[in-house]
Amino acid sequence: MAQVVRRIGLSLGADICWPICYEALLRRLDLHIPFEGDTLTFDVERVSIEPYDLKQPCRYDVVIDRLTHWYHTSREWIKKSILLDDLYVFNNPWSLQSMEKQTSYCAMMRLGLNIPDTWMVPPKSYDDTPDLQHTLRSYARMFNLDEVGEKLGYPMFMKPYDGGGWRGVSRIDNADALRAAYEQSGKLVMHLQKAVQDYDQFVRCVGLGPQFRFVSYDPDAPLHDRYRIDDDFIGDEDKSLLADITMTINAFFGWDFNSCESLRAGGEWYPIDFANPCPDSQVTSLHYHFPWIVNANLRWSIFCAATKKRFRQALDWQPFYDIAADDSLSQREKIRAYAKIGHERMETERFEAFCAEHLGHLDEVSREFFGSDVARDAVRQKVQALFPAHEVDDFTQLFFERIQQWRAS
Ligand SMILES: Nc1ncnc2c1ncn2[C@@H]1O[C@H](COP(=O)(O)OP(=O)(O)OP(=O)(O)O)[C@@H](O)[C@H]1O
Ligand SMILES: [Mg+2]
Repeated sequence: MAQVVRRIGLSLGADICWPICYEALLRRLDLHIPFEGDTLTFDVERVSIEPYDLKQPCRYDVVIDRLTHWYHTSREWIKKSILLDDLYVFNNPWSLQSMEKQTSYCAMMRLGLNIPDTWMVPPKSYDDTPDLQHTLRSYARMFNLDEVGEKLGYPMFMKPYDGGGWRGVSRIDNADALRAAYEQSGKLVMHLQKAVQDYDQFVRCVGLGPQFRFVSYDPDAPLHDRYRIDDDFIGDEDKSLLADITMTINAFFGWDFNSCESLRAGGEWYPIDFANPCPDSQVTSLHYHFPWIVNANLRWSIFCAATKKRFRQALDWQPFYDIAADDSLSQREKIRAYAKIGHERMETERFEAFCAEHLGHLDEVSREFFGSDVARDAVRQKVQALFPAHEVDDFTQLFFERIQQWRAS
C-alpha cells in the first residue's frame, strides 16, 4: 500500500479570494483517502507561466483553469497536457475556445429549449484587412435594419454574439433606438434578441460537476448586490428543471463549471445567457454564495484527481439529437433525458458516494474556516484589489458578514 500524492494545479488570472480559501481548506481537510490499495494525499499548486518544452511532462492530475478564455500561453499548455499527459481540466479548453453564445443558442434551440428569437447582423465597421474590400463588395448585401427590427419585434436586446461581462449590451425599444445602437456598435458582431418581458424570476444556476446552486439575480442592482441573498425564491420543480437545463448545456459542451441565466415569464423558463464557462467566482459579487463555490470546487476537483477521472475526448452530440428527435417525449421529458446523459458522463452516483465516504467533514471544516481570520483576510485582499482605499474596510465588513450569514444558515 503506497502513499500517493495527487496534484491539483490552479491556473489563475485575477482570482484572489477563492484560491486562498481553496488552498487553506484543502490543508485543513488533511485528506488520506484509501483508493485502490493506495493512500491518497493531495497537493495544490498555482500553475506558473514560463517557456515550456512541448514534451515537458505535466505534474498535475487535475487543473482548474481560469485563463483559457483570454491567456493563450496557458491555454496551449493545458491543451498539450491533455494530449500528451492525460491531464483532467475543467473546463474543456477546445470547447471553451470555440463555443460562443451564438453556438450555445443554436444547440439549445435544436434541443427544444425556449431560446428567445435571435438574429445576427454583420458589423457596422471593420479592421481594414487585405481581402476585406473585395469580400464586402462582392458579397455583402445592403440590408434594411428597420425590417430586421420589425420581423423580430420590440423590445429587444442588442448584444455581441460572443459576449460576456455586459460589454456592448443595450435594450432597444424602437426603430430609432435600433439604428442608433447599430451606429454605435463599431466592430462588434451583434445579436438582436427578443426581450423576455414581464419576468417574475431571474435566476443564475451555477453548475460545478453535478452540483448546482440557484441564485436569484437582480440585474439592476449595483454589482455587489446583484446576487441576492434569498434562498427560497423558487420551488423544487423549478430547481429541478433549472438544474437539468444547466446539466444539459454543460454535458453538451463538455463544461464542468458554468452558469446559466434564465428568466421565468408566464410560468415558462427562458434561458438567455449560458455560455459562461469561466463564471464569476469572486467574493465581491458572490458574497453569501461564495463558500458554496469554494466547497463545490473542492469536492469536484478532489473527486476528479482521486479517481483519475478521464478527460472526455469527444463532445458526442448524437445522443442528445436522438432524444430531441423523439416526438413521443414532452419538452420536460427530453430535458430530463439530456440531463441523464450528463449525470452518466459526470459519474454523479460515484461522485456522491465518494463525497459521502471521504469528504463528510468538509461542511464542518469549511463552516469553521469561513469564520477565521484567514478567510477574512482573503476577502480583504479581493476588496483591496477592486475598491478605492476609503471603501475597503466597509466592503470587507459587508462581504464577511454575508459569509457569516451563510455559516449561520
Ligand atoms: N432576451 C433577453 N430578455 C430580457 N433581458 C435580457 C435578454 N438578453 C439580455 N438581457 C439583459 O441583459 C443582461 C446582459 O445580457 P447577457 O447576460 O446576455 O450579456 P453578458 O454580457 O453575457 O452578461 P454577463 O457576462 O453579466 O452574464 C442580462 O443580465 C439581462 O438583464
Ligand atoms: Mg449574462
